[in-house]
Amino acid sequence: MNWLVTGGAGYIGAHVVRAMTEAGERVVVYDDLSTGTADRVPSGVPLVVGSVLDQQLLERTFREHDIAGVVHIAAKKQVGESVERPLYYYRENVTGLQTLLEAMTAAGVDRLVFSSSAAVYGMPDADLVTEDTPCVPMSPYGETKLIGEWLIAAAARAHGLKAAALRYFNVAGAATPELSDTGVFNLIPMVFERLEAGAAPRIFGDDYDTPDGTCVRDYIHVEDIASAHLAAARRLAEAPAGTSLTLNIGRGEGSSVREMVDRILKTTGHEDVTPEVTARRPGDPARVVASADRIRAELGWSARRDLDDMIRSAWQGWRHRHG
Ligand SMILES: NC(=O)c1ccc[n+]([C@@H]2O[C@H](COP(=O)([O-])OP(=O)(O)OC[C@H]3O[C@@H](n4cnc5c(N)ncnc54)[C@H](O)[C@@H]3O)[C@@H](O)[C@H]2O)c1
Repeated sequence: MNWLVTGGAGYIGAHVVRAMTEAGERVVVYDDLSTGTADRVPSGVPLVVGSVLDQQLLERTFREHDIAGVVHIAAKKQVGESVERPLYYYRENVTGLQTLLEAMTAAGVDRLVFSSSAAVYGMPDADLVTEDTPCVPMSPYGETKLIGEWLIAAAARAHGLKAAALRYFNVAGAATPELSDTGVFNLIPMVFERLEAGAAPRIFGDDYDTPDGTCVRDYIHVEDIASAHLAAARRLAEAPAGTSLTLNIGRGEGSSVREMVDRILKTTGHEDVTPEVTARRPGDPARVVASADRIRAELGWSARRDLDDMIRSAWQGWRHRHG
């Protein structure tokens, strides 16, 4: 069977394509190249350039490539931008998904793996966040992901769709330098950017109610994210109609911002640099760490790579892009 990977020319999508093709799955990439690049798509994997808002093109692609399932990764993902441009985010992420579901229903494509996010939880009041922790997203971006999950669950109930929503925690690292993240929206590339500019990396607040006062997050290697998609896709191939899974993808281990910055400084040979502590950023929760029990039980999946793998590979990718 053939899988359509939307957003397969982006950072995470390219890793999913790599993991699926290496495991012998046949894959077609569908991407509008708004933030992705065609050079991330391996030769031999067809690339259809188009938007998930284009139902006709989706239906034609399903027919022409004999698609049986979709891994829907395409979306806009910047929290800050979503606050400034909520209508754009709702159109791209919610209307885009709705259009995809309509095309899938019309074409009889019944398997869907969906990129969700820990942003659906907002400021969770839990030591370990389980999939049953209440979802109170704090940004239009997080809202679009939660609404996406609702849309999918409703379509699974009504139309027999089989679906898995994967809530990624903090994604980092790269399989190869060429596939590394090009954006500077997360802690690790933000530290690299400061170091490259000869500036001290910033820690936003050290007065949180955490062991060292800085925020605690669950970092997960993008290759582990990719292998979770492969496991979910294979599971759906055998699942009964109407199956609807919601799964955290994290390591279940918290790391503080200070610990991460110290590790990054060590890995990149900047031990002499002292980070600068500044005021808290609005909207940063103190601690967001996954419980990864459900995905282990449901898919037999667990993360295999550690913080050093993430930082080392992200740094190689940064050096590759920035010389
Ligand atoms: N990177 C993270 O830390 C993170 C964390 C949680 C969830 N996610 C989710 O993972 C997914 C991928 O994120 P990423 O980091 O790889 O981002 P990315 O920007 O690198 O990739 C997104 C891809 O989707 C494509 N795309 C965007 N809008 C499209 C549209 N309307 N039609 C077709 N293609 C479109 C882009 O061209 C790009 O190739 C997103 O859904 C994001 O919300 C990412």
